[in-house]
Parts: sequence; C-alpha cells; structure tokens
Amino acid sequence: MKHIKTMHVPSGTFVCDTSKPLILQAFLSSCVGVAAYDPEKNIGGLSHFLLPAPITRCREGDEGKYASTGLPLFLNTLTTMGASLKNLRVSIAGGAFSGAISHQDINLDIGGRTAETVRKILAKYNIRVDRAETGGFFTCRLDLDMTDWSVTISPSYTTGGTALESPLITPEKIDAVMESIKPIPQVALKILRIINEDTSHVSTLSHEVKKDQVISGQVLKYCNSAVFSGKGGIDSIDDALLIIGRDNLARIVTAITVKNLFSNHNQGYSLVKGGLYHHAIGVALIAEKLALKTGRSHPFSAYSAGLLHDIGKIVLDQFVSDVAPLFYRDYQDQSTTSLILENTYLGTDHTAIGNILAEKWLLPESVKQTIFFHHRLEQYTGKNATVDIVALANLLVHMFSAGPYLSRVDTSQFNMLLERNGFSLTDFPEIVDMIPLHALTANPEMIV
Ligand SMILES: [Fe+2]
Ligand SMILES: [Fe+2]
Repeated sequence: MKHIKTMHVPSGTFVCDTSKPLILQAFLSSCVGVAAYDPEKNIGGLSHFLLPAPITRCREGDEGKYASTGLPLFLNTLTTMGASLKNLRVSIAGGAFSGAISHQDINLDIGGRTAETVRKILAKYNIRVDRAETGGFFTCRLDLDMTDWSVTISPSYTTGGTALESPLITPEKIDAVMESIKPIPQVALKILRIINEDTSHVSTLSHEVKKDQVISGQVLKYCNSAVFSGKGGIDSIDDALLIIGRDNLARIVTAITVKNLFSNHNQGYSLVKGGLYHHAIGVALIAEKLALKTGRSHPFSAYSAGLLHDIGKIVLDQFVSDVAPLFYRDYQDQSTTSLILENTYLGTDHTAIGNILAEKWLLPESVKQTIFFHHRLEQYTGKNATVDIVALANLLVHMFSAGPYLSRVDTSQFNMLLERNGFSLTDFPEIVDMIPLHALTANPEMIV
C-alpha cells in the first residue's frame, strides 16, 4: 500500500497548494473545516475555523481563526495561486456540539453559527457546496487527498486496530513503569518553587540553570532558534537571562523539561508525534492568559501547572496503546470521558498517577492540586485559583483543538468552570477571542 504523508491543519489556519502526494487533515469538533479545490487547475486547500466572527476587532495574524475573515483570505489565496472560483469544489465538515450536549452548548452553538457563516460567505461568492456534514455530537476528521482531490469526512475515533484480548495491566506493571520514569530535573523543580513562591533572585535562577548542562544546552539552542528569535548570538545562560528576562527563561526551562518528559510517549494518547506536549503547551499558554485576565493567579504558576497537568499520561501512555481500540469504540457514547475509560480499562487514571508522581517529585502544591483536580473540580474545596484556571484552559483546548489526542473531557462542567473563574456564559466569546493562536497551532509532525 502506498504511504502518503499527512499534514495536520491546526485550528485557526489554512493550507493551500498544488496537487502533490499529500493529505491535508483537520480534526474538527465545534470548529468548521472547509476543503476546496479546482480540479482543472489542480490547486486546492483546507481551512480550519474556530469561530464565526471576532467579537470586537480581529487582531493582526488572527484572521484564520474566524470564518468571516479567514474564509475570504483562504479563497483569495486559492485564486491568487491560479484557481478559479467558478470551478471550486467545496466540502464543509465539523460544527458539532462538543461532548455531552448541555444547555450552554445550545445557547452558544458556536459550531452551528460558524458553519452558517461559512455557507453565507460561499453563497456570496456564488460557490456551490458539494458536500456538507456539519452539526451532530462527534468530533470528525476532514481529509483532502491532494493527489486525486478526494475528500473524506469520517469519525475521528476510528483507527487503532484491535485491542489486546488480555492486556494484562496490573498495578505492579503500572508501578514498574512509574519507577522507570526519570524524575523531573532539579533545575526545573527549583524554578517552579522559586517563581511560585516569588522569592527569586535573578542570579539564583541562572546559577540553577547552569548547573544542568543538558537543559542549559537546550535552552541556548532554543533561544537562538528561528522559533524564538532567530537572531543567534546568545552564547551563555547569563546572556539569555539578560536578553529574554527572568520569567521567559523560567518558561523556556519548564517547557523544555516537559517536552523531554513527554518525548518518548507517543504511543497511546497521542495520534501524532509530540501530541501530548502540543496539548500541554496549549493549556499552559491559555492558562497564562486567563491568569493575566482574571488576576487571580501568578501567570507563571498557571503556565507551569498547565504544562504539567497531564503528566500522569506519561505512565499510562503505553498501557493506553494496548486498549486504544476499546477507547475508540466507547467514545461513540457521547457521555464517556477519558477518565471513566481509564478507570474502566486500566484500573486507575492519569490524575491519580500524576498525583503520585507529583508527591514523589515534590512539585509545588498548586501544581499537585491542579494535576489531581483538573477533571473533578467540583470536588476541589481549596482556594488555589491556578487549579480553576488550568481546568478551564484544558477544556478550551479540548473544544478548539479537538485532535489529535485520544481524549475526551466532560464539557457539562463548562458553566461551573466559567463561574469558578469569575466569568459568565456571556464572557465566553471574549475568552475565545483571547486564546493565542499559537496555543492551538504548534504543528507536531504527524506519525499516522
Ligand atoms: Fe487531563
Ligand atoms: Fe489535558
């Protein structure tokens, strides 16, 4: 069987190109995907919108988030490349109610409104829609094969082969994996404590980073990379500290630490290479924004707790790969969540395992509580706002970056999460507007 490379098109972006052996792919929950191609000119593309339109004004670079601004841009790109609007064959997918249907989903029906906006704009351009599969309750996958322009819309949870009949998952096996996980490096732990307790002195921070040669090397490489500044010339940790500042250095060290922790875990939960890390970064960036907006938590505290909230998945990842087909099957029931399935098939869940790791590694209390309570906030009676913030950020990432993870959260908690963070349902569009696009668009290399 020929193997064609797949390219993930994250929410808020689009990709246009000429015909080639490549499959463009988007995982869509409440988001709406549009696949379009001109079969005569052999030009096509796929776009992935989060919302119908911006609430106030569209920030520069955020046009792709909204159907009202992103779709004209997408069509314009296709025509600039040589496609003709009258030849365009268009398919639309997504716009679902995410997870268990609830009152607020019906009130907001973001997906439905985005799909409607897409239809109106296409009608304005006199573009006929060949195929539209929007609404419903399930996350779907929209594929555009650029070799022959075939479009596939399928449920996203259909891969996975067959489950091991007897995966032999025992508490002893889980313990053994837990023992084999390398602990979080001292430098990251110290940074978490220093900044969370805000007792830092700049020199303490660089002194700590310099003690860990591996992390130091990775920090310098990142600081000089195109992703960060691309300018180069940062030769030492002291330089880095001077140029990027204490808080940025702390964020980079923590992000690199989490990337290292997740680096070999791409078997079970993640449908793409780096999926767990991609999710962690998304939650961290949104949590940081929420902390700044609400003023209820230190932004770094929210960022670091966001990065670490799912560390229990490091241990469970390989066991999940054994039972993944059972997860795929059970996700057809819209009320099932990852936590229920983990407990059913593995006898434990990633919050409980994460809690054990957090105890073992002596992580700060706010991180530990976030790890344990982020899916069961109704049981949390503590006062640490970081826990509330990360739980909301996690739900937002699941809503707007539906794949590529084998995961489903309980969206019926959404109202409660908004309230606990001091928001009401009417603030929701503004919160979504605030989501930094790069929180959703980190583009991990596809492995499936
Ligand atoms: Fe989680
Ligand atoms: Fe998560």
